[in-house]
Amino acid sequence: MRERPDLAALGRLRKAAWGGQDDGAWWQAVLERSLTWITAFDGTELVGFVNVAWDGGVHAFLLDTTVHPDWGRRGIGVNLVWEATQAARAEGIHWLHVDYEPHLHQFYELCGFRPTSAGLLKLH
Ligand SMILES: CC(C)(COP(=O)(O)OP(=O)(O)OC[C@H]1O[C@@H](n2cnc3c(N)ncnc32)[C@H](O)[C@@H]1OP(=O)(O)O)[C@@H](O)C(=O)NCCC(=O)NCCS
Repeated sequence: MRERPDLAALGRLRKAAWGGQDDGAWWQAVLERSLTWITAFDGTELVGFVNVAWDGGVHAFLLDTTVHPDWGRRGIGVNLVWEATQAARAEGIHWLHVDYEPHLHQFYELCGFRPTSAGLLKLH
C-alpha cells in the first residue's frame, strides 16, 4: 500500500534496520520528489518502506528498501518491491534500477531484477 508514513515512524524504522541516527525530518523533502513509495504496516506500526525516485522520464530507481528486523524474512521485502514495480509500470516507467550489496543478490533476483554492469561513486 502507499500510505504517507508518519515521518518520525519512518525515522525509527530506518534506525532499526540501518542503524545510525534518523529523526525522520529529512524525509519530507525526499517524499516530495518521489515518483511514489510503498509502505507496509502491522496494524498501525510501520514495518516496511521502499522509495521510488524518478528522473522525470522513463527511468526510476529503488531506494531505501527497508523492513524492520523484527518482521524480517516473512516475505514483506519482496512484496514491497513487487508493489513498487507494479506502481512504476503503471506510471509508464520503462527501466527500474537498483543497487545493492552482494549478499542481497538473491533477494533482488526474487524481486525480478537481473544483474547488469553499473557504477557507483561515493561523493561524501
Ligand atoms: C533487505 C531487506 C529489505 C529484506 O527484507 P525481508 O522482508 O526480510 O525479505 P524477504 O522476507 O522478502 O526475503 C525473501 C528472500 O530474499 C532473501 N533475503 C532476504 N534478506 C536477505 C539477507 N539479509 N541476506 C541474504 N538473503 C536475503 C532470502 O532468499 C529470502 O528468503 P528466505 O527468508 O526464505 O531465505 C531487509 O532485511 C532490510 O531492511 N535490511 C536492512 C536494509 C537494507 O540493507 N536494505 C536493502 C537496500 S538495497
